[in-house]
Amino acid sequence: MTEPAIEVRALRKSFRDHQVLRGVDLTVDQGTVFALLGKNGAGKTTIINILTTLIPADAGTARVGGFDVAAHPESVRRHISLTGQFAAVDDVLTARENLILMGDLRHVANSRATAKELLARFGLSDAADRRVATYSGGMRRRLDIAMGLIGDPSIVFLDEPTNGLDPEGRLSMWENIRSLAHSGTTVFLTTQYLEEADELAHRVAVLHDGCVAATGTPAELKGMLPGDLVTFDFHDERDTRAAMEALKGDFDITRSETLALTVATGGGTARVAEIFIRLRDARVEPVDFTQLIPTLDDVFFSLTGGAKEGPQT
Ligand SMILES: Nc1ncnc2c1ncn2[C@@H]1O[C@H](COP(=O)(O)OP(=O)(O)O)[C@@H](O)[C@H]1O
Ligand SMILES: [Mg+2]
Repeated sequence: MTEPAIEVRALRKSFRDHQVLRGVDLTVDQGTVFALLGKNGAGKTTIINILTTLIPADAGTARVGGFDVAAHPESVRRHISLTGQFAAVDDVLTARENLILMGDLRHVANSRATAKELLARFGLSDAADRRVATYSGGMRRRLDIAMGLIGDPSIVFLDEPTNGLDPEGRLSMWENIRSLAHSGTTVFLTTQYLEEADELAHRVAVLHDGCVAATGTPAELKGMLPGDLVTFDFHDERDTRAAMEALKGDFDITRSETLALTVATGGGTARVAEIFIRLRDARVEPVDFTQLIPTLDDVFFSLTGGAKEGPQT
């Protein structure tokens, strides 16, 4: 078995008396996309800063690319790239010039060819010879990531890579992250968007209260919630009662609204079919039905006990 790309055990970090990380455990397999999901202030950037050797942990261990971040920070740095800070991008230069300069700094054999390849890969060929000052936010973000890929890091850290991008920019960033993953690079990204973790990640960890509240594949996390729910609307009180009578005992039913029932199906289509058969046998015809499939959002909010933004009903 190959060593994990990233292995974090009992990691702790406080800023003065504020305990941000209270014992974080994470394992990221090589060549996978891992999403660390958490609200603003949960400690995502703090974890990235520790894993990329920018700040020390108070306790616990972290190994990145097979090296302990505290004992061998230079070896860790040789295997990783951290992007999202725009630190390396020079506005006065063109994208091509930026990439070539970075290639030369990192002693890449043919920095010109590497720059050309990265420009194409990140959809920047047409704008390659324009000064970066004229770039949109999404283009700058793509260039920033391209810069980080020079020298072929085996592990790439992306701190909220789509934060602040418009929907189109976000989709194109997703494509870039997928293409990174296809090339075998391990990607560790943070996000506040559950949809993003669901789209991109092989595994997700939910960071809450300084600990990993849950970890698994997106499907496993969704599986932590009760199975799919189907809501049936009925014509009148008599039908609603008859439907309850027909289903009770074998199905988990909640009477959600006056003339509606919500039934837990456990996710199987056979169970859904069974509901319709029971209703037909009881001579009850629903006027409408809706399937409610749990999303990662539901998992996240059930784990973190948080309320969604906006007015509560
Ligand atoms: N250098 C620092 N000094 C003091 N507090 C910090 C520092 N860095 C982060 N924090 C605090 O730690 C918490 C987690 O921050 P951060 O890791 O940036 O969260 P996230 O990236 O998930 O939004 C926040 O409450 C933040 O204010
Ligand atoms: Mg952050």
